[in-house]
Order: sequence, then structure tokens, then C-alpha cells
Amino acid sequence: MHLVGRFFGHVTANPPGPEDQQFVHDHLNDPCAALFWAQSGADQDHAVRVARRVSGALGDDREAIEAALLHDVGKSGVPIGAISRSLATVLDAAGLPMTQRMRRYRDHGPRGAEMLADAGCGPLTVAFALHHPGPPPGGIDPVRWKTLSEADG
Ligand SMILES: [Fe+2]
Repeated sequence: MHLVGRFFGHVTANPPGPEDQQFVHDHLNDPCAALFWAQSGADQDHAVRVARRVSGALGDDREAIEAALLHDVGKSGVPIGAISRSLATVLDAAGLPMTQRMRRYRDHGPRGAEMLADAGCGPLTVAFALHHPGPPPGGIDPVRWKTLSEADG
């Protein structure tokens, strides 16, 4: 059900409107914002939704909001459609082989973390891109991490 919801969410999503664009502008510096806007419209929309949930739970926690807005940037530049994304998730969970493109999609965590570190985004942002949806690495506040993970769920 979760995957189906995500699939239709991806197909039907619109890129952020003016209010959400302002929200992004207010929370990201220029190099980090450039990575945000390089995402597909659907991924931008997903990231804003996650960030709005985080801000609802934690208030204006700028580091956590930045992490939410940027956690999936590693997916940008991987030319893969909604069906293949869902399929990659299923194949990966089953331990079955997948195409090179699907592998790049699956490996978006390390790719995104590298892009974010290069752009000078914050440590929580880099860590969440790298380790989500897994547990937090040492030195990261577990409450913020749990909030981010649940908002992304
Ligand atoms: Fe996500």
C-alpha cells in the first residue's frame, strides 16, 4: 500500500507553488538551494511535504528542515520513471538483480551525501541523505532523526 501510494504520489505531484518556493528560499543557502531545484518537480514536492511535517513537529529547526528538503537530492540526474523506481525498491527488498539505472537510483543516499557535502550543507543534512531510511549514526540527535524518518515515511 505504501509503495502504491508513493507511486501515485509521484505521478500526480506538482512542483512547489510560490509559498513553498519561498519556504525553500528561506531555509537553504544558494549552493544547497541549487541542488534542491535540480530535482524533478515530483521530488521537490515530496521534499517540501517532508520538510513541512518536520517544521510542524519541531518548529523552525533550520538544520532539520534543511535535511528534509535535501534528503533525496541524490535521485536527481538518474533518468528513471515512477514505475522503475517502484520496481527498483521491490527488487532491492527481494535481493533480486536490477538494471544499472535502478542501482544508481537505489544508491541515491551516498551520491546525495557527496553532493551535499560538496555544496557545504549541514552535517545533519549530509548524514540523513546518507543513512535514511536507516538508524542515525553516532553523534546525531535521535529525536530529530526519528522526526525526519517519520516525516519521510
Ligand atoms: Fe524521501
